[in-house]
Amino acid sequence: MKQVLIEQYGTPWEVARCAEVPDVGAPEADEVVFDVLAFPINPADLWFCKGSYRLRPPLPATPGAECVGRVTAAGAAVRHVKPGDLVINLQRENWTQRRKVKGSDAIPLPAGIDLRQAAMVRINPPTAALMLSDFVDLKGGEWVIQNVANSAVGRLAIVLAHQRGLRTVNIVRRPALADELRQLGADLVLVDGDDLVERVARETGGAKVRLGLEAIGGAASGRVADCLADDGTLVHYGSMSGQNPDVNRSNFIYRGVRLTGFMLGRFLARRTPEKIREIYADLARQVMEGRLFAPVDTVYPIDGIKEALLHADKGGRNGKILVAPNGPI
Ligand SMILES: NC(=O)c1ccc[n+]([C@@H]2O[C@H](COP(=O)([O-])OP(=O)(O)OC[C@H]3O[C@@H](n4cnc5c(N)ncnc54)[C@H](OP(=O)(O)O)[C@@H]3O)[C@@H](O)[C@H]2O)c1
Repeated sequence: MKQVLIEQYGTPWEVARCAEVPDVGAPEADEVVFDVLAFPINPADLWFCKGSYRLRPPLPATPGAECVGRVTAAGAAVRHVKPGDLVINLQRENWTQRRKVKGSDAIPLPAGIDLRQAAMVRINPPTAALMLSDFVDLKGGEWVIQNVANSAVGRLAIVLAHQRGLRTVNIVRRPALADELRQLGADLVLVDGDDLVERVARETGGAKVRLGLEAIGGAASGRVADCLADDGTLVHYGSMSGQNPDVNRSNFIYRGVRLTGFMLGRFLARRTPEKIREIYADLARQVMEGRLFAPVDTVYPIDGIKEALLHADKGGRNGKILVAPNGPI
């Protein structure tokens, strides 16, 4: 079977290659085997290839934090999925044609779900959902501010916040995106810049913004912090610039602003397996109903992994880059 291998850390499209590897074999009693139908290339996967992600396993290694698959075999003790079922996988190493995992790591998805959307259910939807629920107890009508608003996470946060009656200030770097994000439910779309605080105050009528979501780092983090109300919370959950958050200390000392971070695994680990399945069942239902959606730019075959990685690293895409390892989806 085919599998993506990284034999050294470096420029993703130079170090990743599509290799022929032995098949995974039959499942043990508590295991599930599935064909990987599609996986997205997320920013964290690019950092994994570069060796700058928090996980840096011995080489050779296979990247891939998420995927959607179709079960081909399930061990005798596995009760919740059967051959033919669609699943997402809570484990990594998904850039391959076939995976064998513990049954408990295979989360069932509803039959008929759009496969491209299903490939992106595991990480970004719960990230957006839990960041909105786990830090500040926001009431309907309150504002949330976020940067990278055009990212998959950002778009999902717009929709989920709108569903909850929250209002969103969305910071982008491309003004052309404003209409598209407004159609998703964005209340305000602002281009990042030095006078952000004044513009946010003016456009929200001086609202007290108690939650900020931030995934750029550097001075961009500081600009979001400056927009928060006293005692507000800034959640740093990614660094598209590769820089640490640069936040003026007066926010902490004089205004009691709290800077904290989010990592999906940490926040899922606080929940029971039943609760985790419940969260994914709800998100998958919303995907089925067309309420949660992440745009897809291009789908590549697994042999085209180098082109796919090069494309995924480019800014200004019209959505995610996906790879379909077992044929077109
Ligand atoms: N902590 C967690 O558990 C967790 C989970 C999921 C995602 N994340 C993080 O969330 C972030 C977004 O992920 P995603 O999968 O939603 O991303 P994505 O869909 O691939 O989009 C990336 C976004 O980043 C913007 N961007 C890229 N470089 C930038 C820069 N230097 N300055 C400003 N904006 C920049 C792009 O803007 P354009 O649209 O203008 O190109 C695009 O909107 C990433 O940092 C990712 O690591 C964290």
